[in-house]
Amino acid sequence: MFEELTPQPPDKIIALLQMFRADQRPGKIDLGVGVYRDAEGRTPVMRAIKAAEERLWREQESKSYKALLGDADFIAGMRSLVLGDAVPIERVAGAQAPGGTGALHLLFELTGKAGAGGTIWISDPSWPNHAAMLKHLGMPYRSYRYFDEATRDLDREGMFTDLAEAGRGDVVLLHGCCHNPTGANLTPDDWARVTDLALSQGFTPMIDFAYQGFGDGLDADAAGVRAMAARVPEITIAASCSKNFGVYRDRVGAALVVCADAERAELAADNLASLNRVNYSFPPDHGATAVTMVLTDPALRADWEAELEEMRNRMLRLREGLAEALRRETNDDRFDFIARHRGMFSRTGASPEQVTRLREEFGIYMVGDGRINVAGLPDDGLDEIAKAMVAVGL
Ligand code: LMR
Repeated sequence: MFEELTPQPPDKIIALLQMFRADQRPGKIDLGVGVYRDAEGRTPVMRAIKAAEERLWREQESKSYKALLGDADFIAGMRSLVLGDAVPIERVAGAQAPGGTGALHLLFELTGKAGAGGTIWISDPSWPNHAAMLKHLGMPYRSYRYFDEATRDLDREGMFTDLAEAGRGDVVLLHGCCHNPTGANLTPDDWARVTDLALSQGFTPMIDFAYQGFGDGLDADAAGVRAMAARVPEITIAASCSKNFGVYRDRVGAALVVCADAERAELAADNLASLNRVNYSFPPDHGATAVTMVLTDPALRADWEAELEEMRNRMLRLREGLAEALRRETNDDRFDFIARHRGMFSRTGASPEQVTRLREEFGIYMVGDGRINVAGLPDDGLDEIAKAMVAVGL
């Protein structure tokens, strides 16, 4: 029967990662996949996670199943990390999921089960897996304008014009912070305007929250989501621990569903548990338990927050550094948006041809749409990268 299978379109980020690994050139630079790197180019296990894992190894006496929704302490910890005290806890249902992608998948499915049959609105551009997942699930989706290629900032007018068409039963997917792939983010005023629209038009916001702590800080990055959650009757959030806890391959994420009241939250929790059961039964536990330990132990938590802050500051320094190097190289400020953007990514404006030249001639890997991962920038190679960008005509 398998002769009937057809080759699948590759995910461009994962395909690039494979291409980078196959490249034998010693000076190659990976600005592709969204994985944090330190000054030595490593993606270390965070100190607090290492300490939690050590303790886990000593203290864990069983690996028997927990609950279909995962660990209640993990959910409580993530709910508080993401939402603070923006909504009463009895209105929030939560499920542990395999990474942010697992949480998104769960929330898409829950939306489908709710049967409103509306459209899922995703930003143009967005993380490519959003559209791929919705296609796979057979759910109708449309895009709303988001990024202005000329200003390298939000296309506000386009976004609000398009979202004015989203109505009851529709879901509007927003990036909680650190927009992927552009690096251009909603201001507090934009969050308030989208919230007003959600209330007047009746759509349900959904937040992909994969980079909390990578932009302006843990609380600052959650401010928009919290302000919105405090005002709307329903909102869903897919929170990933891959980047801010550095537990990528352990697959740790949480699906949070804020409902109008406690009764509906119970119903949502029941449905999330049933979806986990039919998809993979119990969510993976190891990484989630380590994250729970870090969130609940004051010393581990303080160390995690300190290390996360170091990572965030490194990315900010690299942003400033590359913008400065490009200013020196071009004698103008057209790349200053790199310093203004927040999070791991910026969309540089490189065309597919320029991306190919940067890769082939200079060993610099970026995603085909011109997205760079600033954490992949080498501290001592910013001038060379700026020169290469200008050499290909950027
Ligand atoms: C990215 O956008 O590069 C990351 O979110 C990693 C991934 O899975 O695509």
